[in-house]
Amino acid sequence: MPAPLRSRLVRRAQKALTGDVRRELTTLRGELTAAQSELKAMRRSSYALKLLVDSTGRGIHRMPDAAQMNSLVAEIAAVVENEALARRNATVAYRNVVALEALGVGRLAGGTSNICGKLATVPLLKPPNADILEIGTLYGMFSAALSRMMHRSGVEARLTIVDPLAGSQLQPGTTERADVTGTPVREDVVRANLLLGGGRTGAEARIVQGFSGDPDVRAQAADREYGVIIVDGDHSFEGVLADLEWVEEIVAPGGIVVLDDCGDPNWAGVGEAMEKHLAGDTRLKKVGQVATSAFLRAR
Ligand SMILES: C[S@@+](CC[C@H](N)C(=O)[O-])C[C@H]1O[C@@H](n2cnc3c(N)ncnc32)[C@H](O)[C@@H]1O
Repeated sequence: MPAPLRSRLVRRAQKALTGDVRRELTTLRGELTAAQSELKAMRRSSYALKLLVDSTGRGIHRMPDAAQMNSLVAEIAAVVENEALARRNATVAYRNVVALEALGVGRLAGGTSNICGKLATVPLLKPPNADILEIGTLYGMFSAALSRMMHRSGVEARLTIVDPLAGSQLQPGTTERADVTGTPVREDVVRANLLLGGGRTGAEARIVQGFSGDPDVRAQAADREYGVIIVDGDHSFEGVLADLEWVEEIVAPGGIVVLDDCGDPNWAGVGEAMEKHLAGDTRLKKVGQVATSAFLRAR
């Protein structure tokens, strides 16, 4: 090919290429600007959502990932033998936790899986009546949340709560320290939270102030057989053993007993007390474990 023709062709090719590159660059710049503003908007909304579910003011975040929820659902499903209902209840329980902690006074105690596990599983185990006893309530928010979950399954809970409500959380063997919420452990606080439980929870809940081992407390609370008993008061070996002995007398046939923090290495006495109790003469049988809660059913 003659040299002048060749250089003309090369120049034309270079021009066409430069035009393409320029157009491509303009497109890329546009895409980059769009991506930057999308990222900014996402950062803003994720920051706002984080404010709703991070650990500030409660000490523990409420941001489970998919793996955590999936393993929670599998644990619940193993107890209730229904994976679809386990997933539905775990999801609804999670929404309740976020809503109640956002609006309530104080906090729920424990990790997200443990709280949602208890809330999701209890209604699915179909307790034989609507009477619920919570031994150790702290701010009363768990009872409020459980009432909501029971109501969803058609049961209007009748609550009895036993707790010294002594201003702060009492736990034998641990040093007393200010709660991360800054909220006092008091009856007015518990009542404020129980109102969030809806139905007759807030208005009619019976609060028996004192220790579960106190004979007067026991006499007041022992006027009925409970369909559900949450054991979450004194976490020492002796304390849990004493509560389980009392539970034998006041749980309804078919009733569900939830032993909180069972298997939690921080509260070894809980699991040890359960093992000792179940090895003796008892109406209770373990029906499963979800996170760090053991579920027992009474004969
Ligand atoms: C771990 S907190 C309860 C948390 C609550 N159930 C929840 O899920 O948010 C334990 C509560 O039990 C109370 N407590 C300690 N010893 C008790 C006892 N012998 N009888 C009843 N409550 C007790 C503590 O003061 C505290 O308020």
